[in-house]
Amino acid sequence: ELGPYSHFMQKEINEQPRAVSDTAEIFLDGGFIAENFGEQAAQIFAEINSIKILACGTSYYAALTGKYWLESIAKIRCDVEIASEYRYREVIADPKELIITISQSGETLDTMEALKYAMTQGHQYSLSICNVMESALPRNSTLAIFTRAGAEIGVASTKAFTTQLVVLFGLAVTLGIVRGQVDDERADGYAEDLRLLPGSIQHALNLEPQLATWAQSFANKPSALFLGRGIHYPIALEGALKLKELTYIHAEAYPAGELKHGPLALVDENMPVVVISPNDGLLDKVKANMQEVSARGGELFVLSDLDSDFTASDGIHVIRTPRHIGILSPIVHTIAVQLLSYHVALVRGTDVDKPRNLAKSVTVE
Ligand code: F6R
Repeated sequence: ELGPYSHFMQKEINEQPRAVSDTAEIFLDGGFIAENFGEQAAQIFAEINSIKILACGTSYYAALTGKYWLESIAKIRCDVEIASEYRYREVIADPKELIITISQSGETLDTMEALKYAMTQGHQYSLSICNVMESALPRNSTLAIFTRAGAEIGVASTKAFTTQLVVLFGLAVTLGIVRGQVDDERADGYAEDLRLLPGSIQHALNLEPQLATWAQSFANKPSALFLGRGIHYPIALEGALKLKELTYIHAEAYPAGELKHGPLALVDENMPVVVISPNDGLLDKVKANMQEVSARGGELFVLSDLDSDFTASDGIHVIRTPRHIGILSPIVHTIAVQLLSYHVALVRGTDVDKPRNLAKSVTVE
């Protein structure tokens, strides 16, 4: 079943052009229409005034990324919460707020319980974004849409995450149309972005040999920092989680602007710092943050795109995707952080497909 690959994770990382293209087809074949999300979606989408997304782990980071698209494209307010926190606090429910759950397995107990809690508190409508058809979350939601990642066997989520992002982007455009924020011309532009995405992911996969050369610099370090700003901050979070679970190296992610408020104290020549910084409008800000790291002797590993003018120098390593990807750039930069963690794990000899202490589907509290 592994074919030419050594691990399921490696196979699943490499399946992403296909998984993403299959998932994008929902919108490219069907159009950005409410019906993609279920029979009642047109009526519900017209009625809602805000969104709350509940999820755990990597699916929670997908939600954080989706918030940027939902607010910037559809102009709808969106909150994101960790399911295990939401379910145990007093909440103010709003019947016109759509509850979205995101889950690869559809069986994560905390997410399921958070959904039930939201409904008992007075919410009316829920949408499940899920990868497994016959699972609890879509079964218990008003609306459902399925990612087309296919079975994911590696414990660490890879293709499930990137396909969740495709659905969230499709949702943002669909809601943008329903709410009169996206006209035909812009919708065509977003469709074109989706069409180009699998090719851009393939370009990112082709960077693997370069990313593998970075792995050695991480493998013997006690910890690592991941920085990003704006829509790339959740990808920094995802990069840090992948490194932790696959290699057992301590890793943390920060919005780069927060460095000076504390974490900068950690930076010295023993702290590799990964910076996710394509040219997304915040590039100059991120460059200033990188100066703060360099000045303390920190070694920088910069993931960027062709549109930026980064050049490698002493203590600054740069890998650039071969084109600027625009609004879907978080999806493309995810590939790089997946591959980096995978190669660090290979150097350290950890169990890539079954990290210690973890289970694929977390059905306990
Ligand atoms: C990390 C990972 C986990 C899951 C989390 C939620 O690589 O896979 O953090 O994302 O346990 O799982 P689902 O998406 O099945 O609800």
